[in-house]
Amino acid sequence: MLTDPRFPKLHIVDHPLVQHKLTLMRCKETSTRDFRELLKEIAMLMGYELTRDFPLGTARIETPIASCDAPVMEGKKCVIVPVLRAGLGMTDGLLMLMPSARVGHIGLYRDENLQPVEYLVKLPDVEGRTFIVVDPMLATGHSGIHAVDVLKKRGVSGESIRFMALVAAPEGVKLFSEHHPDVDLYVASLDECLNEHAYIVPGLGDAGDRIFGTK
Ligand code: URA
Repeated sequence: MLTDPRFPKLHIVDHPLVQHKLTLMRCKETSTRDFRELLKEIAMLMGYELTRDFPLGTARIETPIASCDAPVMEGKKCVIVPVLRAGLGMTDGLLMLMPSARVGHIGLYRDENLQPVEYLVKLPDVEGRTFIVVDPMLATGHSGIHAVDVLKKRGVSGESIRFMALVAAPEGVKLFSEHHPDVDLYVASLDECLNEHAYIVPGLGDAGDRIFGTK
């Protein structure tokens, strides 16, 4: 994993498979079907890295040969929180890794000033859980900041929240890190900049439209 001296909490997942699949996703010719499948695969691969330090305990088990203390994931089930709607595209990949995870939803849309407007929040009990907030594009950072605000207002500590995006703009990472310096951020790529329409350059276009085949 790569780091960036400007953003201490940023982790860039530079695994070759992730990078190759991201390149396929960026191509404008890539079909909706392939885009969706690639996003799911990348989410799973990134999830593997993001969960690397999840706590392990032991359970006494019987193999056909002997008893032993074997490693098991410890603690309450974690919560995947897609930011609607594009975050849904990363949820299945994480659920393949953690089929028993809970799934919360935070619905936001951007108003004419690109500010997030909340229309849905549905979460499980928060006590003692780790939250993985997913949204493929961290552009201005406003939606991501808002989604983490929602969790913190419900009592979740920053240390219990991880944010996973596919592509981020430096402007968004900067703003996000200023608001939530206690939240680890996982991305597959830190791109060049935002354009005048707040799209990431080079980016991959509108992630929601490309996942769902809308315009
Ligand atoms: N949202 C997207 O889907 N793409 C961008 O480039 C920026 C925000």
